Amino acid sequence: MAIFKIITNEDPILRKQSKKITVVDDRSKKIIDDLFDTLYNTDTGVGLAAPQLGILKQIIVIDTGEEEPFALINPEIITSEGEKDSEEGCLSCPEDYGLVKRAERITVEALNEDGNPVTIEAEGFLSIVLQHEIDHLKGILFIDKATPVTKDKQV
Ligand code: NI
Repeated sequence: MAIFKIITNEDPILRKQSKKITVVDDRSKKIIDDLFDTLYNTDTGVGLAAPQLGILKQIIVIDTGEEEPFALINPEIITSEGEKDSEEGCLSCPEDYGLVKRAERITVEALNEDGNPVTIEAEGFLSIVLQHEIDHLKGILFIDKATPVTKDKQV
């Protein structure tokens, strides 16, 4: 079990593009385990991306509480439909909240933690969390898209 310190938004590493995983092996499984351990060590997190641990690899984990927790490797949004205002925060921007325009429904292609291709069709909260975490892999934080960004929880 390894709990990492979650990197916060002053660190330029969060602005970098993460690299694709070419071979799914024990190293990717270790990153997934570390992501879940670190996520579950937070009070509020529903998802975490590898760059938030300082690892520039395309891996995310998600546990919204509405479905089984899962990890995705090399996730890519292949379709998006609709538009939705989303009130967001981020473990890497602990004091910030803001409204972000997100797609309502998306389709994501990825590999699961065993390296098998998966396609996920998501709407509602899961769709938002997926878009937020996939943005992390591109070096994008929600505060780059949010209006307004506030330090006050009462957005
Ligand atoms: Ni985040």
